[in-house]
Amino acid sequence: MGSLSFEKDFEPSAVTPRGLAPPGLIANGDFGEMKRLKVATPTAPRKNLNVAVTEPGSRNNGPSLDCILMNYIDTLSQRINYHIGYPVNICYEHYASLAPLLQFHLNNCGDPFLQNTVDFHSKDFEVAVLNWFADLWEIEKDQYWGYVTNGGTEGNLHGILVGRELLPTGILYASKDSHYSVAKAAMMYRMDFEMVNTSVHGEMDYSDLKVKLLQNKGKPAIINVTIGTTFKGAVDDLDVILQTLKDCGYTYDQFYIHCDAALNGLIIPFIKNMISFKKPIGSVTISGHKFLGCPMPCGIQITRKSYINNLSRKVEYIASVDATISGSRNGLAPIFLWYSLSAKGQVGLQKDVKRCLDNAKYLKDRLQQAGISVMLNELSIIVVLERPRDHEFVRRWQLSCVRDMAHVIVMPGITREILDSFINDLLQQRKKWYKDGNVTPPCVAEDIGAQNCACSYHKIDFIIP
Ligand SMILES: Cc1ncc(COP(=O)(O)O)c(C=O)c1O
Repeated sequence: MGSLSFEKDFEPSAVTPRGLAPPGLIANGDFGEMKRLKVATPTAPRKNLNVAVTEPGSRNNGPSLDCILMNYIDTLSQRINYHIGYPVNICYEHYASLAPLLQFHLNNCGDPFLQNTVDFHSKDFEVAVLNWFADLWEIEKDQYWGYVTNGGTEGNLHGILVGRELLPTGILYASKDSHYSVAKAAMMYRMDFEMVNTSVHGEMDYSDLKVKLLQNKGKPAIINVTIGTTFKGAVDDLDVILQTLKDCGYTYDQFYIHCDAALNGLIIPFIKNMISFKKPIGSVTISGHKFLGCPMPCGIQITRKSYINNLSRKVEYIASVDATISGSRNGLAPIFLWYSLSAKGQVGLQKDVKRCLDNAKYLKDRLQQAGISVMLNELSIIVVLERPRDHEFVRRWQLSCVRDMAHVIVMPGITREILDSFINDLLQQRKKWYKDGNVTPPCVAEDIGAQNCACSYHKIDFIIP
């Protein structure tokens, strides 16, 4: 059997240049907005790897199950050095120690703090992890409630639901650059939704927030604050948002703040003490598989204990109380999180943060020196650059592209060698793409600011002021 190859076997996902939004997909150029598709999306289907479920007796001529798996693992191992477009930390060594746990079904269904009737859960580890985050975000152990989620999306769905239950007539405010799960929450909960403008860097436009808060003055505000936006890594300023609420006359009982810190929730605290329950915020969520690293998707959601009764329901079947979104919950994830946090500690995480920030700056500087449009926000490890011209390159480096931009997320596993190899490949390819001058690199001034744009027009503008 030939080895499985993503290069051969996967089609690049459909990438649509600006102005050619797929019919039915109303993109509006935003990240947070999701609109209903009216026609089938033209996104290319994934080519499959010809893996089938076969009956045990019918595999005489085909490869064994182990052989198929070994090929798959081989392919993943080869592709690992090209995994630079999405925020997953693949740098963990706990799988060997924790592999024996796979022989048990661990299910953390229900409330992490209450007794279960079944012993096959990891709620002690879950609470240990939650306590660690409660310390980090400055809330006393007897004042918070939380759980290990299936990821950042579930955290957002939960945080916004807590806000909606506290303030049922509240309007949800989120910036254009917020994650699409926020718009999904508005749709699922049928909430009124105000999309707030953003700067070219991706940060919330506080004057637009102010205008909208004043327009809706009679109704409470549920605000999603993004601590590290998905595409540009911009950090909404929680303190400015709190001041804006105050200036608009919103008292503490008239607003709820959910902080979506999916990626940056484990970066920011080591640079600047911004996320704190000493401030009037309602909930904070992160993804566990992002900066910390975990082989399965997971996340952490923390809110105030006094808020959770609104959501809690007694469930006789599980002999527990439930205020979570999921039913069954992955009991392995809290153990992986506990192991990573304990193995790294605050000092290890701090080192990761510093290395990633330094490497992100290295990438940005090298691209800039090579005359490529690039932007790197403060406190961010996301380097936004001009969209590479061809699908193959995008697919090889597994890049995420939006309009005329792509980004590289400089996670802990991404070394300078990987970055150098990416830069060299990009420079080589650009020589081919743009060699005869008929096609030029895209102008990204609107996306990342004229000062960061190196297109022929803005470069000249820059050199001859
Ligand atoms: C800001 C932000 N929020 C939420 C999410 C969703 O996280 P998850 O993929 O863990 O559901 C992401 C994912 O990239 C994100 O960037």
